[in-house]
Amino acid sequence: MTFKTKLIISYIFVVLIATVFPLIVTSIIVRDKFVQIVIGGGPGPGFSVLIPEKGLKFLQTVRNTLMISGLISMAIGVVTALFNSKVITKPLKEMRNFARKISNGDYSARVGVKTQDEIGELADSLNYMADRLDDIENMRKTLVQNVSHDLRTPLSSIKGHLELISDSDFDEKEKEHSLSVIHKEVERMEKMVNELAHLSTIDSKKYELEMKKIDINTVVQETLELLKVEIEKKGLGLKEALGKTPIYINGDPGKIKEILMNLINNSIKFTQEGSIGVAATSTKTCAVISIEDSGIGVDEKDLPHIFDRFYRGEKSRSSNLGGLGIGLTIVKELVYAQNGRIQIESPGRNGTKVTITFPLSA
Ligand SMILES: Nc1ncnc2c1ncn2[C@@H]1O[C@H](COP(=O)(O)OP(=O)(O)OP(=O)(O)O)[C@@H](O)[C@H]1O
Ligand SMILES: [Mg+2]
Repeated sequence: MTFKTKLIISYIFVVLIATVFPLIVTSIIVRDKFVQIVIGGGPGPGFSVLIPEKGLKFLQTVRNTLMISGLISMAIGVVTALFNSKVITKPLKEMRNFARKISNGDYSARVGVKTQDEIGELADSLNYMADRLDDIENMRKTLVQNVSHDLRTPLSSIKGHLELISDSDFDEKEKEHSLSVIHKEVERMEKMVNELAHLSTIDSKKYELEMKKIDINTVVQETLELLKVEIEKKGLGLKEALGKTPIYINGDPGKIKEILMNLINNSIKFTQEGSIGVAATSTKTCAVISIEDSGIGVDEKDLPHIFDRFYRGEKSRSSNLGGLGIGLTIVKELVYAQNGRIQIESPGRNGTKVTITFPLSA
């Protein structure tokens, strides 16, 4: 039995009770009251009094009127029951159709119920769920696109060089060059797979933080030492603005380094000429680290999404600079896990500035 049928039956049951019961009671009482008030006497000896013809007619008219009004009430009740059941079950039917579409993979489906009640709240929750599923589906598509694109390039390069090596006319020097290219491409693929595995660890929060009191200046300095060669190799300038006074925060030095490596590597990757500026300062309550570059910048429409998994900005995609779009996702997770905040600006689409803040250690 459908929910609608159950509703109709329960409505009709209520209508029947509400009309038939008063009908029966009134038609019994009206005779007694007629005898009591009009003829005189009452239940007891007077009850058997003979009612004149006119009185009987009157009683019959009253009963008929009661019957007709009862039938009209019943008819109105049944129509109302049918109408109400339809109104109540309509949003439920819509939600059922929505669930079917979602289970068939149509994540663009939404529930159009806008009522201000529990059903409306349920519809809002379902629409929120659909939004999230849609996001996840888009991320999955982007990941497949990025990974297949980023795998195709090294694979075709490896294939080409292997074919060259297998050619017997190939001399030793050229063979060596091909082997070194193959080695580099394999390393690139290995890095990609490691990054994906790392994202999965970060995503499932299966990592531990070794929090301790650390001086931000020292960690920034140590990270820059690791990246200086890369910056110089690309012909970029480096402007360091680190104070002599230590700025203490509570954090995991390894993870802070990982954050900085990701951000500075982004600056190196997205800057073709100019310089990269790294500064550390403090306010009354926070340590502030900023990484600024004179690179390609981020489009305004990309800014709200660049922390999303596998998201790469328009400029990054079009300039074929590689990457899976997971660096900033990891950075954001690690910054927040250490009670920090991160902000990215791209003033006038010229260069990019990333600012991270961490509460100062007590
Ligand atoms: N310094 C920057 N200058 C310009 N664009 C940037 C900069 N940093 C980040 N972006 C934009 O943000 C996007 C996301 O950055 P993210 O570090 O997550 O990914 P990626 O560097 O493209 O790839 P991955 O880090 O996985 O190798 C980039 O694709 C780019 O569009
Ligand atoms: Mg990156």
